[in-house]
Amino acid sequence: MDHFLYRNGELHAEEVRVADIVAAVGTPLYIYSTATLTRHYRVFDEALSGMPHLIAYAVKANGNLAVLKTLGDLGAGMDVVSEGEFRRALAAGVPGGRVVFSGVGKTADEIAFALAHNVRQLNVESFEELELVSRVAVANNAVAPVALRVNPDVDAKTHAKIATGKSENKFGIPISRAREAYARAKSLPGIEAMGVDVHIGSQLTDLAPFESAFRKVAELTRLLREDGHDIRRIDLGGGLGIPYRQANEAPPLPFDYGALVKRTVGDLGCEIEIEPGRLIAGNAGILVSEVIYRKQGEGREFLVLDAAMNDLIRPAMYDAWHDIVPLKEPAPGVEKAEVDVVGPICETGDTFARARPLPPLGPGDLVAFRSAGAYGAVMSSEYNGRRLVPEVLVNGDQFAVVRARPSFEEMLARDTIPAWTA
Ligand code: LLP
Repeated sequence: MDHFLYRNGELHAEEVRVADIVAAVGTPLYIYSTATLTRHYRVFDEALSGMPHLIAYAVKANGNLAVLKTLGDLGAGMDVVSEGEFRRALAAGVPGGRVVFSGVGKTADEIAFALAHNVRQLNVESFEELELVSRVAVANNAVAPVALRVNPDVDAKTHAKIATGKSENKFGIPISRAREAYARAKSLPGIEAMGVDVHIGSQLTDLAPFESAFRKVAELTRLLREDGHDIRRIDLGGGLGIPYRQANEAPPLPFDYGALVKRTVGDLGCEIEIEPGRLIAGNAGILVSEVIYRKQGEGREFLVLDAAMNDLIRPAMYDAWHDIVPLKEPAPGVEKAEVDVVGPICETGDTFARARPLPPLGPGDLVAFRSAGAYGAVMSSEYNGRRLVPEVLVNGDQFAVVRARPSFEEMLARDTIPAWTA
């Protein structure tokens, strides 16, 4: 459920007419809804009620400070994967004690930064990383709170580029070697291994892979306790999928996911952590764009937009589907025609949709890509000399620009020309 609905024939973000935001900010632009972010956080919170838990929002999905502040104020923790994301969480007022640091390639500097800011937990992904964490902790007179990320060898049944829980993936310690890894952790100075962590992939639309992974984690936790390890936390990662096609997709609900968590790991008396990104931010955002041309091709028509793959890369990168809706609600019964929706970038991959049935649209018309709040603006670039897309947050009847569109001057000022070229 989200808060981007037609009212009086026009698309609104909560109580604000999207066209009014476009008039103030221009296109392309991202718009996020506070009410939707809040609702999704609360839905998870309720789904896990009855178990001590922390919802550590995955900052990678949408790291805008205004989004982080909105979630942090509700009590969310943050799952970060770099010093940059850690600094974002801190800048949004989330203390290190609510920050979980994940990622397969943490550097010594990043580990030291995390320890200096009293990180809640480092999710360690390899024997090699364990050694480094120990060295950095000792050098800084710290004890690192650690969960080991295990790779359960479970097929998440999602897009290959975002599946992480199979043994051939680079992530985690093979679950078969987990007891050995905990024994190693115990023998190392500066490490307190108190958690088990797992994350099997993103955009999962079936609960079964979660169930196999969580059962394996529960079994491992029992074994580790028998081995004498004081396991107090279980981090189940993120990954719950969202409906990208409103018409015909119904991924599992957070409530059912919560029930599964209770059923599989609820009896262990551990504090539960989850790291949802997409489910919190995905349907809380849209990307708005203007049609530049309706171009007649050989046997097909192209709708050329002012948004491109550099603003929203998911269709080009994962063949992802995003619903595209006009800002003006089409009259009932209006005929749809199939068009290819493309951006202006000089690559054929700059295609948002092929043969998409859309109502009649032409130059100057505005459209919105739905479900663009996660892995949208964060993955944008300046490819083809395009300015980074701005971001707006709506709250009820108010809106604020939470990242302005840079000027061309600002963009050019970042480069320097060496003196020898004179
Ligand atoms: N925790 C870890 C360790 C992760 O690697 C991820 C996502 C998450 C949590 C959050 O997963 P979520 O709840 O958002 O599914 N750019 C891709 C998605 C990449 C996901 C990477 N890891 C996309 O646009 O589909």
